[in-house]
Amino acid sequence: MTEQNNAQDYEILPDDYAQYDLSFKIIVIGDSGVGKSCFTNKSTKNIFEPDYNATIGFEFFTFNIKIQDKIIKLQIWDTCGQELYRSLITNFYRNSSLAIVVYAVNNLESFQDLDMWFRELRTHAGPDIKVFLVGNKTDLKDERVITTQQGEEFAKLNHANKFIEASAKEGVNTQNTFIDIAKILFDEYNNYKDDDQSSNTTNKSNEKENDYVSESNKSHRLEKTNTNKKQKKCCK
Ligand code: GTP
Ligand code: MG
Repeated sequence: MTEQNNAQDYEILPDDYAQYDLSFKIIVIGDSGVGKSCFTNKSTKNIFEPDYNATIGFEFFTFNIKIQDKIIKLQIWDTCGQELYRSLITNFYRNSSLAIVVYAVNNLESFQDLDMWFRELRTHAGPDIKVFLVGNKTDLKDERVITTQQGEEFAKLNHANKFIEASAKEGVNTQNTFIDIAKILFDEYNNYKDDDQSSNTTNKSNEKENDYVSESNKSHRLEKTNTNKKQKKCCK
């Protein structure tokens, strides 16, 4: 069974759906215990686990969605927040199309540590990686210490592409976030493709390290040849 929205501009496919036309790598980072695994589990499998099981290294999830006539697979790498494993996860930053950076709205330290997480992205990710900032655990209203405005301001200052408040527990802005991500990356893919087709010259200096998508299981590099459309850069 597949889920289809009313407007029928997309169709969510089962997470074990084998076929796809395009795939994008997503990385989920942030302090330990902020709810990265719960957020990803709820978004992709509609499961919420109240007991805390710290992720060791990383866990892999998929989210499959059909937009127009293309099946898009998001390959999601949910990483562990523990400092001990931090050097291990930096290898996952490279070639990621988008990073979801999570803090918990009831945890001041996780918000203060965002500086460090954005620094990690600047250091290890490609320059055009997109960033979604997620303030999780909004259901804990009485424990909230970070306001929506503080989250918005941080996102703006650090050029995040989007700021979202979510509750993995209540399923608020969980699946929606991944639908949004798929749409944004699909739009970007179409823009690159159009640029590619409308230009006859290849400017090697404008090639980007992380502009990889997989098309029909073949690794395919998109060379953006028209520099007029400047992409908004993260973390600058
Ligand atoms: P690491 O794997 O150690 O990096 O942690 P994590 O960020 O993956 O946290 P995890 O998803 O394991 O969640 C940590 C704890 O927070 C668990 O006990 C969850 O049940 C709880 N939790 C996660 N999301 C929410 C939420 O939206 N609301 C509430 N109330 N609790 C949540
Ligand atoms: Mg985890």
